[in-house]
Amino acid sequence: MRTGLTMAGAKGPSIMAQILPRLPEARGRAWAVPFFGTGAAARAMDEAGLRVRWAGDACAPLVRVLRALRDDPGFLGRVEEVAHPVEALGSADAQREAYWSLREGVEEAPPERFLVVWRLAFNGLMRFSRTGRFNVPPGVKEGGRPRKRIVDLEALAEHGAWLRRIPRVELAPYSEAPEGPLYADPPYVGTHDTYTPGGFDHRAFHAWAAQRPGPWAISNSREAQGSYPEIYHTIHTIERRGTVSSKGSGRQPVTEVLGVRR
Ligand SMILES: C[S@@+](CC[C@H](N)C(=O)[O-])C[C@H]1O[C@@H](n2cnc3c(N)ncnc32)[C@H](O)[C@@H]1O
Repeated sequence: MRTGLTMAGAKGPSIMAQILPRLPEARGRAWAVPFFGTGAAARAMDEAGLRVRWAGDACAPLVRVLRALRDDPGFLGRVEEVAHPVEALGSADAQREAYWSLREGVEEAPPERFLVVWRLAFNGLMRFSRTGRFNVPPGVKEGGRPRKRIVDLEALAEHGAWLRRIPRVELAPYSEAPEGPLYADPPYVGTHDTYTPGGFDHRAFHAWAAQRPGPWAISNSREAQGSYPEIYHTIHTIERRGTVSSKGSGRQPVTEVLGVRR
């Protein structure tokens, strides 16, 4: 499965293969997936036969990209129009310069520009300042080779076609998720949380989850277990390679937790 998108904490098939068998029984009911991100987790759920009927995320530029992928047949053509001139630049320095100018005001820019900037960003990170400015530096290394392909149009087209299977893809905070089975993959305790201006309130989220009836499952870092034992009391440890830190270094196996309410 290729989504054509990257994000710290995006859940690829190998980690989802550990999570899927641990999700609570939903008796054929459709799932809500807040914290949708790239959609990788939801897509793995769908491919495993679980129906996803509601996708929500609170990051506005990200949701604009998802909706354009899903609903706008001209979108990928426009993505190519933005990406191609940058790909054609012969040096990494020129690409870095192009990045800085594309990044200026990108939060309100059309989704094609936002997608290209996101793809060129360091480690494909999605991170904003406290005031809502996309603040990731360029991923092209100093003196390194220029990036040939910025976007994988084929993967993006495939992901867009998959997104059309979900009846609702919304710019919405987790608290608007409809009733019923829910899989949540929030910003992890102890990692960067500035996907939205002001960052993420872990305490408020866990208080909300504590009063939400099951079935639900929530992924988080090991660190979350100490702070929110009421949520992560049924611990399933999930092994994954890599890190959700923004450093991009130290890609060691990491254990994370899954809290489950049946
Ligand atoms: C760890 S990522 C999820 C990755 C996703 N599971 C995937 O496979 O790509 C966390 C997501 O939560 C979103 N988010 C942050 N605060 C939120 C909130 N209050 N309500 C809903 N989504 C939020 C971020 O925009 C980000 O896309």
